[in-house]
Amino acid sequence: MDLELHPADNISEESITFTNERGQRERVRLHDYERVYSVPGLYEDVLLNYLNFASPEFLAELLAKSYPLESLRILDLAAGNGLAGEALFKRGSEYIIGADACAQAAPAAARDYPSVYQEYITVYADDPRLIQAVKEHKLNTLHCVGALGTITVEQFQHLWAAFPVESILSVTCDDLSVLDNPFAAYFKRSAAAGELRIIKCEQFQHRQLMNGDPFIATAVIAEKLR
Ligand SMILES: C[S@@+](CC[C@H](N)C(=O)[O-])C[C@H]1O[C@@H](n2cnc3c(N)ncnc32)[C@H](O)[C@@H]1O
Repeated sequence: MDLELHPADNISEESITFTNERGQRERVRLHDYERVYSVPGLYEDVLLNYLNFASPEFLAELLAKSYPLESLRILDLAAGNGLAGEALFKRGSEYIIGADACAQAAPAAARDYPSVYQEYITVYADDPRLIQAVKEHKLNTLHCVGALGTITVEQFQHLWAAFPVESILSVTCDDLSVLDNPFAAYFKRSAAAGELRIIKCEQFQHRQLMNGDPFIATAVIAEKLR
């Protein structure tokens, strides 16, 4: 796709230049998901071919090593165009509901990974319609790749409260060893209160930044105790 990458000090300002549908060179921020998802193949090209994006496969593999995927009824939160759902699907997941706040995500997932999702809902993480979907679909697993942090602890807690006891949490988040990470405090607090049992907690390289530096993240698998 004849891509140029433009590193930035602030990750949300990283951008790319690509040749668009009209044959023109166009520059867009990687975090402009509305635009990036609307161009077939662009998200995968940047993330997989240039930035060694590892999280969808890493987290799906960690979850598959911990539980039989076919027994899980999964919410893929912030599912984007479906890369994370596809990583679960090809390992045997049979029931996945996708959700993302971006209006272009659902059509992109239907275009790019049409077999993966039973249903795909365009909502923010704390939308009551998502809570309703958790109940209607009897979901028992909350899976989220690359979005905790943008999704706040408060939004996450609101949604997680809708899942029944014994549900599974399977998420990546910013490196939990970083002191002021609010999700580190949340996991510590919930484990100490006997609400959550951490099954696996592994540091790994989420992807490269556009300047070549590693972007380290943490993957967590946990069970809801109460
Ligand atoms: C880095 S992308 C990850 C997409 C996908 N999980 C993957 O691994 O390819 C982050 C996604 O989070 C979504 N997102 C960000 N904040 C959100 C929120 N509060 N509720 C729902 N989705 C959100 C964005 O629209 C975007 O699609």
